[in-house]
Amino acid sequence: MILGIKDLTLRFGGLTAVNHVSFTIEQGSIKSLIGPNGAGKTSLFNCITGFYRAQEGEALFRGDSVMRLKPHRITEMGMARTFQNLRLFKNLTVMENVMSGMHCRTSAGLAGAVLRPPAQRAEEKRIRDVAEECMDFVGILDAKNRIAKNLSYGDQRRVELARALATKPQLLLLDEPGAGLNYDEKVQLIELIRRIRDEKGITVFLIEHDMGLVMEVSEKIFVLDYGTKIAEGTAREVQNNPKVIEAYLGKEEEAAV
Ligand SMILES: Nc1ncnc2c1ncn2[C@@H]1O[C@H](COP(=O)(O)OP(=O)(O)OP(=O)(O)O)[C@@H](O)[C@H]1O
Ligand SMILES: [Mg+2]
Repeated sequence: MILGIKDLTLRFGGLTAVNHVSFTIEQGSIKSLIGPNGAGKTSLFNCITGFYRAQEGEALFRGDSVMRLKPHRITEMGMARTFQNLRLFKNLTVMENVMSGMHCRTSAGLAGAVLRPPAQRAEEKRIRDVAEECMDFVGILDAKNRIAKNLSYGDQRRVELARALATKPQLLLLDEPGAGLNYDEKVQLIELIRRIRDEKGITVFLIEHDMGLVMEVSEKIFVLDYGTKIAEGTAREVQNNPKVIEAYLGKEEEAAV
């Protein structure tokens, strides 16, 4: 078990975004989190990665609590994430964006990475090598000197993925990595997620709305609705679960009214 979540609860005033949620993620697995809009998926990610502070419960990463830690500390421990809405430095190059994720792995820190005093040159070469390896892995090495905002949306998503990989995570959390991608890009994403697990040995936990992608890539799925876990299992089990069908169809009916 790489991640263990127990009774996690997050409230915003009167709204309970995450309601006593418990689950585990096995090392080396690919697990998906699904649920209708507003179900609490991103909020749950934010609690696990230190962006929000849950009021109740426990989150153990490789046996250690991450409940009171800041995001950068959690990244150092080996958990990386991408965001539902891209968070790139739009006016920096692809290389600089990928390197920006790595200051947690350098002794010089971010200032050293940017100011480049001579003593840190070897360190910088090492950082560049890792960044290049990650850009190559996701297929954007050719674009390394381009300004991030000039890349296609799909390629910008790859930059974010490369930045997360450059922190050398053991667990990677992806918040809707397929959003805004066309069919071909989604096929490539599925392949990439598999390679992240198979070649790099990284455990993957993803939020995704595209059911085709979810069913294709994940071994286990768990479902949130109104902050509460309503189902967990294999793709087939979850697909046939009446609670899941109702959660999705109910939302469609509401939307249609
Ligand atoms: N910072 C915040 N302050 C107040 N309410 C919030 C905050 N973040 C999220 N919420 C609320 O918590 C609930 C869950 O939101 P969340 O973004 O986690 O859902 P989601 O499952 O990721 O949805 P989507 O599929 O649309 O991304 C929603 O009702 C949302 O409005
Ligand atoms: Mg979300």
